[in-house]
Amino acid sequence: MQFFIDTAEIAVLRELVPTGMVDGVTTNPTLIAKSGRKMSEVIAEICALVPGSVSAEVVGADAEVMIKEGEYLAAIAPNVTVKVPLTWEGLKATRALSDKGLTTNVTLCFSAAQALLAAKAGATYVSPFVGRLDDHGADGIDLLSDIRAIYDQFGYDTKILAASVRNAAHVRAAAIAGADCATIPPATFKDLIKHPLTDKGLEAFMSDWAKTGQSIL
Ligand code: G3P
Repeated sequence: MQFFIDTAEIAVLRELVPTGMVDGVTTNPTLIAKSGRKMSEVIAEICALVPGSVSAEVVGADAEVMIKEGEYLAAIAPNVTVKVPLTWEGLKATRALSDKGLTTNVTLCFSAAQALLAAKAGATYVSPFVGRLDDHGADGIDLLSDIRAIYDQFGYDTKILAASVRNAAHVRAAAIAGADCATIPPATFKDLIKHPLTDKGLEAFMSDWAKTGQSIL
């Protein structure tokens, strides 16, 4: 499973990339606004830091504008993935950008039917919003399982990128449901390693080792 980090904060990525676990990054207009920086500069810096897919989202309302914005964003670096909203105009833009050989991420997916449309439009990734669906009273993880079954049944190679992931339990469930990737907020990513028995076990090993008076090197 690929791990993407859902952030536009360079300092955070500098901290997380050395773990060797960061396969890509996703951003959205909210995250860019939070960074307080010019989008093209942030995306260029992220792309230089992370060799994998870096999603940069278009904001145009119609396909023509989205295509132009997508081409502009894709020219920033070869690893930019153009993120497009799940609207009819977004799907038209996805088809056009995919036909031009660009990678695309169709975002704001909340139903299996929408995911089917994204695959038919040739999307490289589809982003089902797990947490926001849960907030809405539905089951975000069920959606991932449904999309997995549909894509496998018809042989679509669109990758399922679980988004709006809120906790380690979501990551576990997304992996079991067969999501290809999850985009994870930095704090949740750091939580993935935590287990009290790991801390307790390590403490005991270190204290017993100290009693031996040995050193390995
Ligand atoms: O980038 C899209 C998605 O991950 C947003 O998550 O937490 O704003 O629902 P959230």
